[in-house]
Amino acid sequence: MDANFWLSRWAQDKTGFHAEQVHSDLLEFGKQWLSSASGGSKKDILVPLCGKTMDLVYLAKLGHRVVGVELSDKAAAAVFGRAKLPFTQSKQGPFQVFRAQDLDLEVRVGNFFELSAVPSFDAVWDRAAMVALDPDRRARYVKHLIQLVRPGGTMLVNIMDYPQEQMPGPPHAISFDDLGMAYRAHFKLELLKEQDQIDDSPKFRERGLDHFIVRTCLLTRS
Ligand SMILES: C[S@@+](CC[C@H](N)C(=O)[O-])C[C@H]1O[C@@H](n2cnc3c(N)ncnc32)[C@H](O)[C@@H]1O
Repeated sequence: MDANFWLSRWAQDKTGFHAEQVHSDLLEFGKQWLSSASGGSKKDILVPLCGKTMDLVYLAKLGHRVVGVELSDKAAAAVFGRAKLPFTQSKQGPFQVFRAQDLDLEVRVGNFFELSAVPSFDAVWDRAAMVALDPDRRARYVKHLIQLVRPGGTMLVNIMDYPQEQMPGPPHAISFDDLGMAYRAHFKLELLKEQDQIDDSPKFRERGLDHFIVRTCLLTRS
């Protein structure tokens, strides 16, 4: 899927991937993910392909420095609007940066692949990011992300797995093995949770899936 695909989804408000609530993985595993990451108590957290998730605000309110990266300025504006956070806008290199005035939170509007590796991050929250990309762009995404994480840094990654022939992505199916193949040269991988969520996902059942396994994984950078 290219940028136009996503921008047209935002323009038409076709954002069925968006969840109004803070993600349950952050509530369940956030402490483990962040306490095991490098850095002091205030972490530098990256949320790639962040959409308009309120997870950004949740993490910043815990006292961390949070950077989201997203193609759509409509999504970025929605984050600050929904949280009623005053913000400034500035141009920094290829990005339009939306920055909260009273929280250490910014959303960089632009192409994730243009995000510079300096400064790097202690922690990454990948929800519906890796699975959003076409499989032929996955290796590039992983290569770029690896450069952005400091040694000792951690990533909390939420992936979905289902018979790919039953439904075209996004979200694209990624198994725990696929994740291992992508990251194991640079990260230690741990499976934190695995659940078949097909009964809670009627839209995927309607599209023909007979199972929909969601996994939460903790990756630690060597
Ligand atoms: C499936 S959505 C997930 C959004 C968010 N992570 C969430 O959990 O709600 C994927 C998002 O990635 C954005 N996106 C896709 N390709 C991108 C790129 N190359 N750079 C930045 N954002 C991108 C899209 O605009 C879309 O908002």
